[in-house]
Parts: sequence; C-alpha cells; structure tokens
Amino acid sequence: MNIRTETNQDMERVQHLLLQAFPGQAEARLVEELRKDPQFVPELSIVAEENGIIKGHILLSQGQLLDGHQTHAVAALAPLAVLPKYQRQGIGGLLVEEGKRRCASLGYPLVFLFGHPTYYPRFGFEQARRYGLDIKQFTVSDEVFMVAELKSGALEKLQGEFRYPPAFENLE
Ligand SMILES: CC(C)(COP(=O)(O)OP(=O)(O)OC[C@H]1O[C@@H](n2cnc3c(N)ncnc32)[C@H](O)[C@@H]1OP(=O)(O)O)[C@@H](O)C(=O)NCCC(=O)NCCS
Repeated sequence: MNIRTETNQDMERVQHLLLQAFPGQAEARLVEELRKDPQFVPELSIVAEENGIIKGHILLSQGQLLDGHQTHAVAALAPLAVLPKYQRQGIGGLLVEEGKRRCASLGYPLVFLFGHPTYYPRFGFEQARRYGLDIKQFTVSDEVFMVAELKSGALEKLQGEFRYPPAFENLE
C-alpha cells in the first residue's frame, strides 16, 4: 500500500471515492472547499493507493484553539474515507497514523475530530471535553468530539474553544 500526498491528477478519483464512501455529497464538497482555503496544506491531503487504485483518502486541515487572548493553530481531521469494497483491511488506520505523523512534524500540538466513538480511540483519540476543550461552532455530543495529543503534554497545557476552518460551516 502506497500512502502518499494527493496530486492534482488524483483529485477526480478522490472525489469519486468520497461520493462512494459517504451517503451524500457534503464530504466531497467539503474537500473541494478546503483545497481552495488559503490555509490548505497540500501534504495533509493523503491517499492510499494500491495497484493503481486509490482505495482511501484522508484530509487534515488547520483549525484554531481559542484560549483567552491566545490562539493556537491545531489540526482538524475530516474527512476520512475508504472505498466500501476495501474497508476493514486496515487502510483507514494507516491513513490516520500517517495523518497524525505529518501533523506532528508540522508542529500542531493537537488534532481534533468528530467521529465514531468506537473507531478513533484505538488511534489515541479521547473525549475532548474531559480536558477542558470545547466547541461552540457546532452542537456535538461528548462521545463524538475527540482530540489526540501530537506533542507530549499538550492536553495538560492547552485548553479553550476549538474551531474548524470556515469551509466546515457551509456544509449541510
Ligand atoms: C470509517 C472508515 C474510514 C474506516 O476505514 P477502514 O479502512 O475500514 O478501517 P480499518 O480497517 O482501519 O479499521 C476497521 C475497523 O473500523 C471500524 N469500522 C469500519 N467500518 C466501519 C463503519 N462503517 N462503521 C463503524 N465502524 C467501522 C470497525 O471497528 C473495524 O474493526 P472490525 O473490522 O474489527 O470491526 C471506513 O469504514 C469508511 O470510509 N466509512 C465511510 C465513511 C466514514 O464514515 N468515514 C468516517 C467519518 S469522517
């Protein structure tokens, strides 16, 4: 399995993958919007390719953690998708691990997501509100709003309100 940065030539196949993996078009549109965002980090749009087939994709973007007068740049993980035919083979896991590694090397202290409460804890994600972290941008339950530490001690040190980039607000 080749885990690598998405290229311009991949984009059409990634859009197709997103439409196959999710019931609606929201995630495909989100990825399109995030690619246009001035804060977009190309190396955080990652594909899993095997035998010429793009089997999985993950995108991480830059969000903000507002803590009083301070704002910290943090990572936001979404979306993650694997073609239905290739699910449950560990591809999603490879993409999450690589995404976390890349975000850590870019210096982000934390990565946030909304996700399946039974899937993400195996990759070190925990309920964010347990650590004094919150979100006001969207209404979301404690189980789904998760965070993982990328820099040792970051969860002890940082608190405040997480915000996704604006592209997330235009979803339906
Ligand atoms: C969630 C998803 C990315 C996981 O990718 P994957 O390559 O199948 O995951 P892995 O092989 O690394 O891990 C397999 C585990 O994921 C979980 N899992 C896989 N598909 C799942 C699904 N549709 N719903 C809930 N959990 C699922 C299971 O716990 C599974 O473990 P098991 O086989 O022991 O039960 C993939 O199922 C997918 O694209 N789903 C549709 C889109 C989606 O919901 N994305 C996540 C929200 S952003």
